[in-house]
Amino acid sequence: MARILLGVSGSVAAYKALEFVRLATKAGHVVRAVQTEAAQEFVGAASFAALTGAPVLVTEWERDPARGAFPDQAPPEHDPLSHLELVRNADVFLIAPASANTIAKLAHGLADNLLTSAALAATCPVVVAPAMNNAMYDHAATRDNLRVLRERGVRVVDPGTGALGSKHEWGIGRLAEPIDLLGTVEAVLAESPATAAAGPWDGLRVLVTAGGTREPIDSVRYVGNRSSGRMGFALADEAARRGAEVTVVVANVALPRTPGVTYIDVETAAELHDACAVAFPGTDVLLMAAAVADFRPASAADHKIKKTGRDELTVQMEATVDVLSSLSATRRDDQTLVGFAAEHGQDAVAYGRDKLERKGLDAVVVNDISRADIGFDTAENEVTIVLADTQVAVGKSDKTLIAAAILDTVDQIREPTSLAARTPG
Ligand code: CTP
Repeated sequence: MARILLGVSGSVAAYKALEFVRLATKAGHVVRAVQTEAAQEFVGAASFAALTGAPVLVTEWERDPARGAFPDQAPPEHDPLSHLELVRNADVFLIAPASANTIAKLAHGLADNLLTSAALAATCPVVVAPAMNNAMYDHAATRDNLRVLRERGVRVVDPGTGALGSKHEWGIGRLAEPIDLLGTVEAVLAESPATAAAGPWDGLRVLVTAGGTREPIDSVRYVGNRSSGRMGFALADEAARRGAEVTVVVANVALPRTPGVTYIDVETAAELHDACAVAFPGTDVLLMAAAVADFRPASAADHKIKKTGRDELTVQMEATVDVLSSLSATRRDDQTLVGFAAEHGQDAVAYGRDKLERKGLDAVVVNDISRADIGFDTAENEVTIVLADTQVAVGKSDKTLIAAAILDTVDQIREPTSLAARTPG
């Protein structure tokens, strides 16, 4: 959890700052927003106040009911100066969208509104995300101002290229996507000595597999599955948030990646096996969320198989290696192995327990794939975590929360004494 001060300046992209607040608070951070007057022309303070759960300030001259405190803090007894107190409490100051005018003021040290005064007083890391018309962004003045900020240690999140705010305008200058803003903020926090303080999983090495393997039939076709990789990526993000050193073996996932996490891309079950076999000995916790093919075409054609002259096509399949079982066969007692089981219907948990024993695991996360509203390629899931002597039901929720529940269970497996201490009676 971090305290993020969000500075919103005048740009059409101000609406994306709302989405940033939503993502950041969902990820467990607390946010306070300050706006420039121009920003209020685009998105009103009420929206930011509702999403942050805190007052939104525009000038130094209005009274802050929270007296500079973030939503998780008690306000001080005195009335502090807002621009000083907000940055004193913040772990990071994100200015997004940063207009050309605000960037110019920041580069020259002007302090003519609350946002720029706070930036001048900030000792926490500052992240600036430009958003403007392409001609303004390409202007030598803006380029120079951004260079000056970079040289001073400000992290600049480069804008994207595409459709711009005004109709028919296209070019560089689009505000970075909110998820990328959050990724940069979290990366900056992880690097910052003040906030990189030990998380509960500090020093733990976590290996996650995510996505679904593709087994080639010929040079263009493959046998695949519907796994999107969302569950694996949510686990990786949550483990990184807890301070772990995270490696993800990624099988065909088209999702944004988190700075600070290591990703190894693979395509087939055999490649996934090879990547895992290398990483596993140095792993404390294995979270095997990937949907790995059980069978693959026995021989893949190196050209595109032609349809002409055929009424049918038979593809001979052969078993792949069971990656989890092969890793488990070499496991040490101090390693924790979590498998996943996608099962149909009422025997799902029994099948999961069978996998736990057969594959030598510490836990199996079972989800019922007969339901269309959870599991494959959806944002939500509902699982039962099967352990050797018990099971934990996790109700339908966002995969981020499911990931947190799974990691809490890993904590219990690794520290049975702390579990006993937490369990009443
Ligand atoms: N798994 C694996 N290698 C495979 C197949 C599966 O490592 N070739 C892993 C998956 O990543 C998952 C767990 O094993 O964590 C269970 O996968 P599942 O396909 O449900 O298990 P199977 O042993 O293939 O069982 P079933 O007979 O139900 O297909």
